[in-house]
Amino acid sequence: MTQIITFGNFKGGVGKTTNAVQVAYELSKRNYKTLLMDLDPQANATNILLKTKANIDDELAHFDSSLMVAVQDKDLTKSIINIKENLDLMGSAPDFALFPRFMEKMFKDYTDRVQYLSKLIEPVAEKYDFVIVDIPPTISLITDAALYASDWCLVVMQTQQQSLDGASAFIDYIQDDIVNTYKAPRLDVIGILAVLIQAGAPVDETTMNNAIKYFGKENILPTAIHSMQRLKRYGITGITTSQRYDKKVFAVYKQVTDEILDRIGMSK
Ligand SMILES: Nc1ncnc2c1ncn2[C@@H]1O[C@H](COP(=O)(O)OP(=O)(O)OP(=O)(O)O)[C@@H](O)[C@H]1O
Ligand SMILES: [Mg+2]
Repeated sequence: MTQIITFGNFKGGVGKTTNAVQVAYELSKRNYKTLLMDLDPQANATNILLKTKANIDDELAHFDSSLMVAVQDKDLTKSIINIKENLDLMGSAPDFALFPRFMEKMFKDYTDRVQYLSKLIEPVAEKYDFVIVDIPPTISLITDAALYASDWCLVVMQTQQQSLDGASAFIDYIQDDIVNTYKAPRLDVIGILAVLIQAGAPVDETTMNNAIKYFGKENILPTAIHSMQRLKRYGITGITTSQRYDKKVFAVYKQVTDEILDRIGMSK
C-alpha cells in the first residue's frame, strides 16, 4: 500500500521543502520506491533534486511535459523523471500556478476541483511505496487538492511563537476543511516536526515547551531539526554525499525517518 505524505504548513520558509526532500532521499536509500511530488510552482524541490541528479550522473534531465500540461493531458507520468535509484521526481514549474484557473474551467463546484487531482495521482502513486508531497505556503486549491489526496500530513513547525499559532491553525484547517468539508478519505496527521531556528536560543525553548503543552508531547517527533549550514547549501548544490557534514545531515534524517515510519505503522 502506497503511503502519500504531505509536508505542510501555511507559513512560508519554515523548511517544508528541505525536510520533504531529505526524507524522500532517506526513504529511497532504504530501498523504498519513492516519488517526490513537487506541487509548488516555485519548484524549489525540483531544483534541489535536479542538481542532485547532476551530482550523480552528469546527465541533463528532460521532462516530457510540464506538470501543468501533464494535468491537462490527464497523464502525470509525463512530468516524472528518475533522480537516483528508487527516487523519482514529479517536477513542478511556474506554469503550475495556473492549476486553480484550469480547474475552475473544468468544475463549477469547489469540492470537485479539490478532488480531481487525487484521481490523476492514484494510478501514478500505486507504483511507489512512498509519495512525498511538497506544497506551496499559501492556502489555495493546490494545497487543498494535495492534502485531500494524502494519507498523512507531517506538520513542519519552526519554534517561534507565531509558528506555533500557525501550526495549530493548519491542523484545524485539515480537520475542518479537508476532512469534514471536502471529505478526504484517508488523511491523518502524523505529528509535528520541530525545526529549531537557533539551537539553544531561549525563545526556542520557551516555544518548544509551549508546543509540548499545547499539542501534547506524543504529537511532536522526538528529533528536532537544528539549523544546519549544509542543508542550506543543498539548495544551491543539490544533495552531496561524500563529506562529514553530509553524514551529519543523513544521521538526523535517518532518525526522523525512523520516527515517521514508526508513527505510520511501518517500522520494522
Ligand atoms: N535546518 C535548516 N538549517 C539551515 N537552513 C535551513 C534549514 N531548513 C531550511 N533551511 C533553509 O531555509 C530556507 C527555507 O527553507 P525551505 O525552502 O525548505 O522552506 P519552505 O517552507 O519550503 O519554504 P516555502 O514556503 O517558500 O516553500 C531555504 O533556504 C533552506 O535552505
Ligand atoms: Mg517550499
